[in-house]
Parts: sequence; C-alpha cells; structure tokens
Amino acid sequence: MRHCIYPGTFDPITYGHLDVLERATRLFDKVTVAVAESAGKAPLFTAEQRVEMITPNVKVWPHVTVTTFRGLLVEFCMAQKADAIIRGLRALSDFEFEFNMALMNRHLEPNLETIFVMPNEQFSYTSSTLVKQVATFGGDISHFVPPNVAAALKTAFAPSRQ
Ligand code: COA
Repeated sequence: MRHCIYPGTFDPITYGHLDVLERATRLFDKVTVAVAESAGKAPLFTAEQRVEMITPNVKVWPHVTVTTFRGLLVEFCMAQKADAIIRGLRALSDFEFEFNMALMNRHLEPNLETIFVMPNEQFSYTSSTLVKQVATFGGDISHFVPPNVAAALKTAFAPSRQ
C-alpha cells in the first residue's frame, strides 16, 4: 500500500490543485490531502473551512482523505506512515522554493521522498492569491475553482463590494 501526502495551504483549493491530486491518485494507493494551518500566510479561510471546501471535490476518489495538520510536515507524514510527499510544479518559478523545501524535508527525514508532478498547462498561471484577487472585485473565477469554492469566495467578499 503506497501512501502519499499532498500538503498545502489550499486557501482555497483550485482546479490546479485538483489536477495534481488526480495525478497522485493514479500513482498511489492512498492519498491524504493535508491542509496546513499556515497562520503565517494569514489565510482567508480557517483550516476547517478549507477542509470542508475540499471534501466534496475529492468524493470521486475513494482512496483520498482530507485532514488538517500543524507543525512539521515530515512529522505528520511519519505519523501517517506515508511513503512520499507530492507537490505540483506549475512553472520554473515554482522550482527554487519547491527544491529548497524538498531538500529541507529530506534533511529532516531522509526516508521520505518528494515527488513532483506538472499540472496541466492551462493551470500554470493559477494561484489562490490571484483567484482571491479576481473574486474580490466580482470577476468570473469559474474556470479556476469548483462551484462550492466560488460560492464561498463570493460570500467572503460580498460585504467589501457593497
Ligand atoms: N494549481 C494552482 N495553484 C497552485 C498549484 C497548482 N497545482 N500548486 C501550487 N499552487 C499555488 C497555490 O495556489 C498557492 O498560491 P498562493 O501563494 O497565491 O496562495 C501557492 O501556489 C502555494 O500554495 P499551496 O500549494 O497551497 O501550498 P503552500 O506552498 O502554501 O504549502 C506547505 C506549503 C504547507 C507544504 C509548507 O509550508 C509546510 O510544509 N508547512 C509545514 C511546516 C513545515 O514542515 N515547514 C518546513 C518545510 S521545509
């Protein structure tokens, strides 16, 4: 049973993240989406809200579960008996950050591999920040996020557009 962890802040989850997740489901017997608190990023949604937004979108994959984690990712992975971490590389600009993070995680836990996959190029410019920015001004984000996420963003930003 090969188990991987797909960690992220997911504030909010996008179709780009789901593309990475789908690739992970084809490579692993079990995939855990691990939602980081990421307090330093001052997320718009709480970790629990982010889990709630992700859950209906992963129902199609029975071997995917969603949970939150705090603290070091590698410690969470070891506690979950995971074999690998999976991350997406959208563009060259992601590489340096991801490379450093993978090497630090390897330093902390040498037995844990980080696997990179490339999401479909149509998502190469998608990011949670840009989606939130477009949503703030009432722009159409349906190409980038599932309907329940679009609805949550609309609610979150409704007062600021009045
Ligand atoms: N499609 C669309 N967007 C994507 C994407 C994809 N396939 N892959 C990444 N992104 C975007 C996200 O939208 C997000 O955009 P934003 O910065 O505008 O919000 C950004 O890239 C990265 O976010 P995300 O994928 O959600 O992950 P993250 O980089 O915030 O996650 C953790 C980082 C949580 C994995 C990392 O901080 C961590 O492990 N924290 C725990 C503490 C720890 O162990 N630290 C030591 C690590 S070396």
